Amino acid sequence: NKVLLAYSGGLDTSIIIPWLKENYSCEVIAASADVGQGTELDGLEEKAIKTGASKLYVLDLTDEFIDDYVFPTLQAGAKYEGTYLLGTSFARPPIAKHLVEIAEKEGCDAICHGCTGKGNDQVRFELSIKAFAPDMPIIAPWREWDIKSREEEIDYAEAHNVPLKINRETNYSKDKNLWHLSHEGLDLEDPSLEPQYQKPGFLELGVSPEQAPDTPAYVTIHFEKGIPTAVDGVAMKGSDIVRTLNKLGGENGIGIIDIVENRLVGMKSRGVYETPGGTILYFAHAQLEMLCLDKATAHYKELVAQKFSEIVYDGQWYTPLREALSAFVTETQKTVTGDVKLKLYKGNIIPAGTTSPYSLYSEELATFGEDGIYDQKDSAGFINLFGLPVTVQAKCKKNWPKE
Ligand code: ARG
Ligand code: SIN
Repeated sequence: NKVLLAYSGGLDTSIIIPWLKENYSCEVIAASADVGQGTELDGLEEKAIKTGASKLYVLDLTDEFIDDYVFPTLQAGAKYEGTYLLGTSFARPPIAKHLVEIAEKEGCDAICHGCTGKGNDQVRFELSIKAFAPDMPIIAPWREWDIKSREEEIDYAEAHNVPLKINRETNYSKDKNLWHLSHEGLDLEDPSLEPQYQKPGFLELGVSPEQAPDTPAYVTIHFEKGIPTAVDGVAMKGSDIVRTLNKLGGENGIGIIDIVENRLVGMKSRGVYETPGGTILYFAHAQLEMLCLDKATAHYKELVAQKFSEIVYDGQWYTPLREALSAFVTETQKTVTGDVKLKLYKGNIIPAGTTSPYSLYSEELATFGEDGIYDQKDSAGFINLFGLPVTVQAKCKKNWPKE
């Protein structure tokens, strides 16, 4: 009996190791994904073995995560409920996909995850596992065990000699990767309370706008077909672009949102999310599309973006509809190439000039001065026909019976 556990080294997935061995009398293989969360992976193997796992796989998924999941979503312009840049949502599908690969290689009988039964993450993991291994049994201890709180988890850990770095002091529920850091729980569960941004250890990817420098920072981002490829003239791979912009954005207080979102499982939940680099990239990409997309495509793409965001949020990455919408998005990006200059100042992003070889903007046409294409006399007939329904309705209304 062998179970593959999606392991982070945090409290939840640590106590799951002895719990699985006790309740499923199985060998536990642990797997951790590096999606750019940084130092959290140091010393993890030793910890997993000490806790009772027979092996730890560490998957280096950062580039795949950014190039194959984050950037296609950026190209779509998809933001869940208009604000959330989906940082946790699109990290789950690549992790799940690789878990299936390891589970099959190791001949595991099940895959286990540490998501609660009240959240979105369980859905994202399990839908993505089903997409590659439709018959793989899935174990979700939070839906089975009697442990109800963090306190009880710590008691369980101490009783089972699980090495813990954390103390009994409470902490937010966080999820970190190269794109974002989420904070949920504790005082944030009351949406009437302002988040304690100044509290040391809360914000990790940057500072709050008040703490940002008094002088603005400029940055220029180059896009090729809707994909960022250089910062300030220096070509970089995707993950390095995000790293560079995270630093710059974080220093300038960019990309902190405080929202109440509608979870897939029915409840509203409050979260504070830090996405400094991602916020800059979404803004820059939108600036460039203003020049490069025609009106009809741009407006239709907004509908696609909304649907795309729901698909990603709801864990439906590996579905025919997501693929079809991606094909549409890719087609729209053929001319989204150019440079976007931005000014970053105390949490604000201010456009500072955009250029594209494929720009549809015509200064000659838009000018208030003379031009050679647009005949102002044409407008009179245009307005008569465009306004015909309004004219007809107003005339008819005159003859309607009085109420
Ligand atoms: N509410 C956000 C989402 O659904 C963030 C979830 C964070 N997940 C976590 N395990 N802490 O995408
Ligand atoms: C969890 O419940 O595991 C985290 C929150 C979420 O998935 O939405």
